[in-house]
Amino acid sequence: MTPTAPASAPADTSVLSLRSISKTFGAVAALTDVDLDVAPGQVVAVVGDNGAGKSTLVKVLAGVHAPTSGTITFEQRTVTIDDPATAHDLGIATVFQDLALCENLNVIENLFLGREINALRLDDVAMEVRSWELLRQLSAKIPTVRIPVASLSGGQRQTVAIARSLIGDPRVIILDEPTAALGVAQTAEVLNLVERLRERGLGVIMISHNMEDVRAVADKVAVLRLGRNNGVFDVQDVSSEEIIAAITGATDNAVSQRASRRQGATTTHEGAPS
Ligand SMILES: Nc1ncnc2c1ncn2[C@@H]1O[C@H](COP(=O)(O)OP(=O)(O)OP(=O)(O)O)[C@@H](O)[C@H]1O
Ligand SMILES: [Mg+2]
Repeated sequence: MTPTAPASAPADTSVLSLRSISKTFGAVAALTDVDLDVAPGQVVAVVGDNGAGKSTLVKVLAGVHAPTSGTITFEQRTVTIDDPATAHDLGIATVFQDLALCENLNVIENLFLGREINALRLDDVAMEVRSWELLRQLSAKIPTVRIPVASLSGGQRQTVAIARSLIGDPRVIILDEPTAALGVAQTAEVLNLVERLRERGLGVIMISHNMEDVRAVADKVAVLRLGRNNGVFDVQDVSSEEIIAAITGATDNAVSQRASRRQGATTTHEGAPS
């Protein structure tokens, strides 16, 4: 990446700050001047419509794509994330949407794939102990670690993928649509897990399409629209309708009109004698 002067100084409470990050693919501007901050123990949801640039942002942080311009500050140092190994070594873990688990391997094998303890003589016992430790930290509901991942539920797979990303002891974890394919109970399980990550002091960036999930766990929500920032909100101070209006770029579209009609109705009720 080409370092440029930051648009504004990174907040010194941040573990990770992006300033003015742009990424073009030929003529396509996937990201333009994007700023983002995440603090330790904070969950930042990144939301936006299809093609808003969410996955591109994830890939920039994961070392998959080099940004065309902009500055990334990690733990108060300006960094260049050239490749996934650099992201991992810095302490930025990414759980991609497809999870990249091996269906036919069991939980332990998936957790330690490519980094088996004592690579020459696989230390089964040590890996099993460490696996349970990791899963316990996440209060994960996995019945046995010797079961092929293929036979786990979607929520359990997400758990395994998150546990695997914790092995390098990261400071920041990025989850791309962690609840997209999950039912109600499994979604709740994964959202609990996100809370465990926050309790452990990690900075969490969660890509999501689901307003309920965002409201349930995020502290802040950052909206991307057409590759640009379109608002950062404290979740407590913002309605789902306002977030959706920022996502669609319409302050007066059908959704917000419905919202304001409802608010109007509520006001009338509250004003009426009870
Ligand atoms: N490797 C690539 N080559 C060319 N264009 C790309 C590439 N990756 C992404 N884009 C373009 O960049 C823009 C942002 O895409 P991105 O995948 O980041 O969006 P997204 O917010 O993740 O969308 P979705 O919700 O559909 O996953 C889109 O216009 C997309 O077509
Ligand atoms: Mg995407």
